[in-house]
Amino acid sequence: MDIKNVTHVDNVKLRDDGQAVVILDQSLLPGRTEYAELEKPQEMYDAIGKLRVRGAPAIGICAAYCMYVLAARRGKCDNFLQELHKDGDFLKSSRPTAVNLKWAVDRILKVADSIADESWDKILETLRKEAVTIQEEDMAMCFKISEYGLSVIKEGDGILTHCNAGPLATSRYGTALGPILLAKERGINVKVFADETRPLLQGARLTAYELDKAGVDVTLICDNMASSVMSRGWIQACFVGCDRVAANGDTANKIGTSGVAILAKHYGIPFYVLGPTSTIDLECRTGADIPIELREAEEIKKMFFREPSSPESVKCYNPAFDVTDHSLITGIITENGIAYPPFEESLKRMSNVQDATFL
Ligand code: MRU
Repeated sequence: MDIKNVTHVDNVKLRDDGQAVVILDQSLLPGRTEYAELEKPQEMYDAIGKLRVRGAPAIGICAAYCMYVLAARRGKCDNFLQELHKDGDFLKSSRPTAVNLKWAVDRILKVADSIADESWDKILETLRKEAVTIQEEDMAMCFKISEYGLSVIKEGDGILTHCNAGPLATSRYGTALGPILLAKERGINVKVFADETRPLLQGARLTAYELDKAGVDVTLICDNMASSVMSRGWIQACFVGCDRVAANGDTANKIGTSGVAILAKHYGIPFYVLGPTSTIDLECRTGADIPIELREAEEIKKMFFREPSSPESVKCYNPAFDVTDHSLITGIITENGIAYPPFEESLKRMSNVQDATFL
């Protein structure tokens, strides 16, 4: 099966009978377009942990549907809430950095807690609706982020992006790729340079794939070529996604993002982070409070190589994310507008939080 229109891919959805979550398996793209059905907690945990579903918003949406499916499959029982909280804790432990996962699971749990005395049918229907609402809200948010992002793009601009923050990672348009896809639809021509994004190649496998399908002018580069294209004057802005934004604007995103931001500063290129307000975590004061996921050595040495790229005995350090210091970020583009420094104030405004006690 082939994907015709990248802005209308159902990357995460509920099976018609409500007994499984269906995901487009991103780990197989671009070579194979296959869907996987998740019914059991371990399958769900593995799908998130092994990046078969990935991208902060998509992980959150998937987890919300998973919570509904687990409730529906278990059926009515006396300790329903206790079991659902256990499921939630298990799913939340599958990946630590993207706050959307915790945010979506906690949102479902909060609803479940508030309607625990209702009939079983009402409980299930309410949980299903909440998961659908999370996905619908994400579609609307991505579109608004795309509009705000488009406001900083000009005809002919060169844009560098890292990792994948497109439709596959979200709903419909994506975050960092949203303005680019919208520009294309509106006849504004931009040239995109996609970092391949070692070690899991989200840039090569997913970003280049999505943009190419959409007819956007995209050029793939290795991560260590970003400085070279910037120095030639080919890049007018960097657009990246985010997995968690701390209260001071420090931003966790795919490993390598902070290096791109440092280069952008050196060359005087604006560096924008794009993401929904659900990715802002005001409980993290700074990036130092954001947990960073460490992954297996084999992703560096063996995946995508015909032969291991390094001796078996060599140690690897494989952090999946890094933190970009807020001082390197020009603006954080959310569905509520563009937050500019000082981020402590602007992010609070964007999140509509008036009474954060730690500030
Ligand atoms: O490890 P991944 O592929 O889940 O990392 C994804 C990213 O870093 C994305 O940039 C981020 O989740 C934003 S997706 C809109």
